[in-house]
Amino acid sequence: MIIASNFKMNHTRKSTQQFLNQLKEVKTNHTIRVFPPATALFENEIVGVQNGYPAINGSFTGEIGLEQIKEFNIDKILIGHSERRNLLKESQELITKKFEFYKNENFEITYCIGEPLEIRQKGIDEVIKFLKAQLVGIDINYDKLIVAYEPVWAIGTGISATIQEIEETHNKLREFIKSSLLYGGSVKLENIAEICDIENVDGVLIGTASWQVENFIKMINQVKG
Ligand code: PGA
Repeated sequence: MIIASNFKMNHTRKSTQQFLNQLKEVKTNHTIRVFPPATALFENEIVGVQNGYPAINGSFTGEIGLEQIKEFNIDKILIGHSERRNLLKESQELITKKFEFYKNENFEITYCIGEPLEIRQKGIDEVIKFLKAQLVGIDINYDKLIVAYEPVWAIGTGISATIQEIEETHNKLREFIKSSLLYGGSVKLENIAEICDIENVDGVLIGTASWQVENFIKMINQVKG
């Protein structure tokens, strides 16, 4: 299983270092990933970036590019998170450019997709149609691709999708996606084991519940090896 923590805009450099130090002591067969903010990057094989501009360097105020990421020998990136799509207005076109750029650099790409509530309410066919639109321009056969299905209405709300909803959606995604499929959206200590037990769920992407390292470690230990 892949168990990933997305810090979003939480943690400092100091607290990230403490987090990573505590995590180092954990013995697990799972693949662990941590995505700290850009100011708290470390050279560590489990660390990836939450964002990267599709350029080596240049005049892109506020962004970080390949040169800054490579300084930490990082080769893992999150692309397409709903907070970047919705709050920061990232278009599918920009997302596609990022994907191509970091794919060409051989990065492991955790690519996020997820529908808003009004789409979920229309039923599974509409959900899949929406998710497919978020995959336009993306090479779904890329061998270092991980797809994270994260329904927008479940992110940070404390209300995860139901086991049935996750199962049905992942089964449909599995029909055309070969890569690992993560679920994200209010994954917590109480539901992580059950979610990871679902067929076609290859792991989880966790926000809120992962930010306290003790809780993240407990969650890792909940998942069957
Ligand atoms: P959440 O966030 O666990 O706080 O719902 C998940 C995510 O956005 O990756």
